[in-house]
Amino acid sequence: MRIAVVYDSLTGNTKILADELKKALPPEDLVYCGPLPDGIEADLYLIGSWTDKGSCSAKIAGFLEKLSGKTIAVFATAGFGGSEEYYQAIFERIKTHIDQSNQILPPFFCQGKMPAGVLARYQKLAEANPADEKIRQSIANFHQAASHPDEGDLANIRTWLENILAQ
Ligand SMILES: Cc1cc2nc3c(=O)[nH]c(=O)nc-3n(C[C@H](O)[C@H](O)[C@H](O)COP(=O)(O)O)c2cc1C
Repeated sequence: MRIAVVYDSLTGNTKILADELKKALPPEDLVYCGPLPDGIEADLYLIGSWTDKGSCSAKIAGFLEKLSGKTIAVFATAGFGGSEEYYQAIFERIKTHIDQSNQILPPFFCQGKMPAGVLARYQKLAEANPADEKIRQSIANFHQAASHPDEGDLANIRTWLENILAQ
């Protein structure tokens, strides 16, 4: 089976997952691992994205839209998270970019740290609105995301890959 790992990673979190997949995949099956390629052919596409506005990145959306008749498994990092419902909602939006001729396998999601500027923005907002619970939660979430992807996430994506390859 020809397998391609294609990802878009702005700050490196999704690349960490992609690198883990590359390490775990049988080298003879891996035809490509990297950012959006031109002209590769594979049977199974492991497609990685950061989360932008509750969906995959525009680059990944464009890449997904070109695939037909393939098997596709999405892996992604999100700044917010910790809830399956949240990840499922993102996945539903990602799926709108995938043609029905493709087979779609279950996705993998985990949190990914956000740039320090995001925290600075939240802190400014919190100063102006000290009673705002949503802002406080966003700050707590920022700190929760700060250590991800971590070793647990990497173990989880290895298990996910085993299940994908067993399908
Ligand atoms: C412009 C921008 C928009 C983002 N939008 C979301 C979002 O809607 N939901 C979310 O959970 N995380 C969002 N994030 C956080 C990133 O998806 C998250 O930090 C991710 O792990 C980054 O992955 P990367 O390091 O591979 O680029 C956003 C980050 C940026 C920079």
